[in-house]
Amino acid sequence: MTNNYKEKFIEHLEDSISGNRLIKVVLGKYKGDEPDLQRIVIKQIAVKEETKLSFVYCYKTKEITKNFKIVEGIEKIAALVESPFMSGNLFSTTENIQIIYSRKGKCSWSCKRVYNEVVTSQQHDHQKERYVDQNKAFLTALGVTNENHQVLPSMSKKWKQINKFLEIFKHAYNSSRLVDAKKVSVADFGSGKGYLTFAIHDLLRDSFGVDAQVTGIELRDNLVNFCNDVASKLNMDSLKFFQGDVNSYNPENLQVMIALHACDTATDQAIFLGIRCESEIIMCAPCCHKEIRKQICSPEIIEPILKHGIHLGQEAEMVTDGLRALLLEAYGYKTQIIEFISLEHTGKNKMILAVKHDQPVDREAVMAKVTKVKEFYGIKTQCLEELLAKWLRH
Ligand SMILES: C[S@@+](CC[C@H](N)C(=O)[O-])C[C@H]1O[C@@H](n2cnc3c(N)ncnc32)[C@H](O)[C@@H]1O
Repeated sequence: MTNNYKEKFIEHLEDSISGNRLIKVVLGKYKGDEPDLQRIVIKQIAVKEETKLSFVYCYKTKEITKNFKIVEGIEKIAALVESPFMSGNLFSTTENIQIIYSRKGKCSWSCKRVYNEVVTSQQHDHQKERYVDQNKAFLTALGVTNENHQVLPSMSKKWKQINKFLEIFKHAYNSSRLVDAKKVSVADFGSGKGYLTFAIHDLLRDSFGVDAQVTGIELRDNLVNFCNDVASKLNMDSLKFFQGDVNSYNPENLQVMIALHACDTATDQAIFLGIRCESEIIMCAPCCHKEIRKQICSPEIIEPILKHGIHLGQEAEMVTDGLRALLLEAYGYKTQIIEFISLEHTGKNKMILAVKHDQPVDREAVMAKVTKVKEFYGIKTQCLEELLAKWLRH
């Protein structure tokens, strides 16, 4: 009877794969010899147009992923269920099956019909490319996914933002001079709870195979401690978090400077550091734009438009980020202002993306444009411009 149940389990697995209904298989109650191995989570994935079974071996403090062809993967599961894994759970869009063996070898079986609307990771990959493996332990440690590696409903926007951020970064990286680099150092200013810092570390090291050193800089020490604890538990030695502000961090070299949603002029300070360190990529999603908003004197013709506070705010944002982009251009960066994530998720949807190039730049001509824009709006000072001017004087 025991073997029949196992055969039935494998038959249901084969059926759910061929019917494209598999969500995942979880092998648990591990009784083997491998230290700290707890369970294996198996999902169907698409790798370069080929369907595979992805096995994530979950240890106490790390995860290892191995992909197998479908037939090979099914054989592996058949060899692992009962011993050394005494339980197997099969989740599909139509049924949840559990098979459990007792120490004495007795087998229990349950099969529940379900109408699961969950999108399988394979279907998901067809709809939208993902830039980080949803099974990664850091996503669970940061509270983006649950123990079964499903994105928590409350974190779905963050999950989209992480992937969008990695998508933009990947394109910038491939168009930059870093593309052949073996070593890359990254700073993320205002790293907060570290979602994007962990994600970029993962992309660079695990997907690109680059020796990346990533540092998050954050004012709040509770977040710094939390992120350092997670990084150390997951043995991520090349990921560190420092408590401090933008000015307290002075790296010797910095190839990638990131500042996402750092408040007001903290963004200018971060861009300045990137320019000063000749970073190859500068990526920032500005937050508030108080410095320019309070200086704007509405030019007469557009005064009836800017008299509405909301318009003045939008104008301040546009002018601030436009000036930042011009300043980056003046210092040798190809600069774009692009949508980060759409407005339905957050109001902060803009990103300044700058990639260093080696073409000659007529800095004076670009700076003349900066001056004209400032004059038009009656703006006296702009933080990044001042930092750059002071730096040139020394
Ligand atoms: C809105 S959160 C964004 C967190 C993260 N970058 C993200 O996008 O998920 C902004 C973070 O920047 C930090 N912050 C603000 N000003 C800063 C400064 N001058 N230096 C370092 N961190 C700063 C805040 O404490 C906060 O955690």
